[in-house]
Amino acid sequence: MHTLQDRIETLMWENRRSTDGFTYTLPSPELYPFQWLWDSCFHAIILSHFDVSTAKNELRAAFSRPLSDGILPHIIYWGSDTAATNWGREMRGDIINKAWGVIGTSAITQPPIMAYAVWRIFENDGDEAFLREMYPILEAHYRGILKDRVLDDRALAFIVNPDESGEDNSPRFDIQQGLPAMHSADQSLDRRLDRIREHAVCQFQARDCMSKYFAMADLPFNVILFESLGYMSKIASLLKLEDDASYFATTADNVQNAIKQTLCIEGVCRAYDLNSSQSIETITWAIFMPLYGGLLSEDEAKRLVDDWLLSDQRFWSEFPIPSTSMEESSFDPVGGFWRGPVWMAPNWFVYKGLKRYGFDDVAETIKQKTVDLIELSGFREQYNPLTGEGIGAKNFTWGGLVLDME
Ligand code: GLC
Repeated sequence: MHTLQDRIETLMWENRRSTDGFTYTLPSPELYPFQWLWDSCFHAIILSHFDVSTAKNELRAAFSRPLSDGILPHIIYWGSDTAATNWGREMRGDIINKAWGVIGTSAITQPPIMAYAVWRIFENDGDEAFLREMYPILEAHYRGILKDRVLDDRALAFIVNPDESGEDNSPRFDIQQGLPAMHSADQSLDRRLDRIREHAVCQFQARDCMSKYFAMADLPFNVILFESLGYMSKIASLLKLEDDASYFATTADNVQNAIKQTLCIEGVCRAYDLNSSQSIETITWAIFMPLYGGLLSEDEAKRLVDDWLLSDQRFWSEFPIPSTSMEESSFDPVGGFWRGPVWMAPNWFVYKGLKRYGFDDVAETIKQKTVDLIELSGFREQYNPLTGEGIGAKNFTWGGLVLDME
């Protein structure tokens, strides 16, 4: 009888590849045959539970191809250009790969959880040399985000493309994408391709593109940013870089305060769209990210858990947590990409947030239901929150995060 940990280790080894002296993990060999940035941070966290040195190599590969402004790209198309061009024709990955304006990577990023991943590895083995090796890359990345993505004195960071949220087709972006609540995957892809074409016009200069096209202060991105800036401060301090340590501590505070003041009302926080100056009313699992970031008072947290998470009209489905509230007209438990199905990274973020506020029983139930999903349907990209049926990519790595639900 193989334990869950055995099965996760086997999956992680089977998805491991080497190219050009780097080794890295594919999220799913069939559907995602390259390296994705926030996936690799999740991989590093999973791997740190059984092989810290492989976890380090995962990040070395993910951090090896920064863009010219220091920001780390969300995809590295390891291998030949042909491999990338032949990839996922029905997903039009071939067109997207060619459109970025840079060779071998994408030109956008993903939620900035990198400093946290590095810190988690350091916590395992106390290897300061690893921190020293990673620091300049991380420093350039976070300074790049703060310089290119913070647009005004509110200190919030804006994303330039829905894919930068990591939740490519979340209904949070429907209004800005000009998409109705129910639409096909093709319609969504068309709009995402339009964004890339527009960005080619503004030469992928985020500030310029954002003033014309798409600029969203997304909630998970900003919560993850302020938390990781805090870890940057800790890392800098350990490396005796006192000026950097205080710079990152101040910027972490600024982002944290800006989230509270600009995005949150009475403990309910939402994304904010720059170009229409409106906050996004659609409720998705992102409403729980302030728990992870510790942004709420005890009362606000309790209300959020009781009224939203544990509501069987909203998020308490047979298999929680649906990526979009079941009350939303965009909720689609099977066909909607980030529009209903359960994804394992949100379950992990919410688990951590619940533990932080002492909701241990609810956290334990989410962990158990997450394990149940794997037992029932294997390692899939998404799961139907009503039935537990697996959806999308197979042999998908994010289920490994249950090892880190502790
Ligand atoms: C999908 C997900 C994104 C992930 C990628 C690779 O595009 O939306 O978050 O990084 O797949 O797994």
